[in-house]
Amino acid sequence: MFSYLFYRHVYLQHRRASWLIQKATGIGRSVADAKTWDAEYANGNWEELYSFHEQAHYQMLILYIVSLSQTPTILDVGCGEGILARKLRPEGYKLYVGIDLSEAAIAKGKCAESELTRFLVADAEQYAPEHKFDVIVFNESLYYFSEPDVVLERYRSHLTNNGVCLLSLFRRPKADAIRTYVKGRFTVVDETLVQNARGSWSCIAIR
Ligand SMILES: C[S@@+](CC[C@H](N)C(=O)[O-])C[C@H]1O[C@@H](n2cnc3c(N)ncnc32)[C@H](O)[C@@H]1O
Repeated sequence: MFSYLFYRHVYLQHRRASWLIQKATGIGRSVADAKTWDAEYANGNWEELYSFHEQAHYQMLILYIVSLSQTPTILDVGCGEGILARKLRPEGYKLYVGIDLSEAAIAKGKCAESELTRFLVADAEQYAPEHKFDVIVFNESLYYFSEPDVVLERYRSHLTNNGVCLLSLFRRPKADAIRTYVKGRFTVVDETLVQNARGSWSCIAIR
């Protein structure tokens, strides 16, 4: 009886958190199709990500990556133009795979392609990784998926032993709903908040 009530409680918490994520807004435009993303990249709307005040969350994720393993395998989900990949030392990973819905973004990423650094156009909500990864990154991408909770749960099953999913979430109501869900649902290995004049980002390592 006790275990029935416990599991029912966990299940209801999970349902409530998923519902809150679906309802929460406030990160500007959320889910969009590939054409919209392509147009935004072509217009330079995402050049902002190269700016000075966006650097802290990339660097925080890199600190987590290098402290996890000398040469991890990395899957970067919603990698955009591959900014994170270009900031990593090439000898600092065994394999980097970046996937993104936008062909325009991936075309730019491909400039940094090598034998160990690959970029693919793929919808994260459909893509099935061919193998497991030590690190799976969702850097400013989770809130653009229609079911972030389902996506996260599925990718987590593609982690190696001791692997981690790394999230960067710019603090807004939708991101905070995802953060609350994540902290209730997964094991949080670490969380760091970075803040500057533009706002605040939560960088979370989970498994
Ligand atoms: C704010 S950008 C972040 C890009 C990159 N992670 C970075 O921080 O440099 C969000 C990215 O998520 C991608 N994205 C949105 N929905 C997606 C989906 N369903 N599958 C894959 N990528 C998606 C967009 O194309 C965009 O490149």
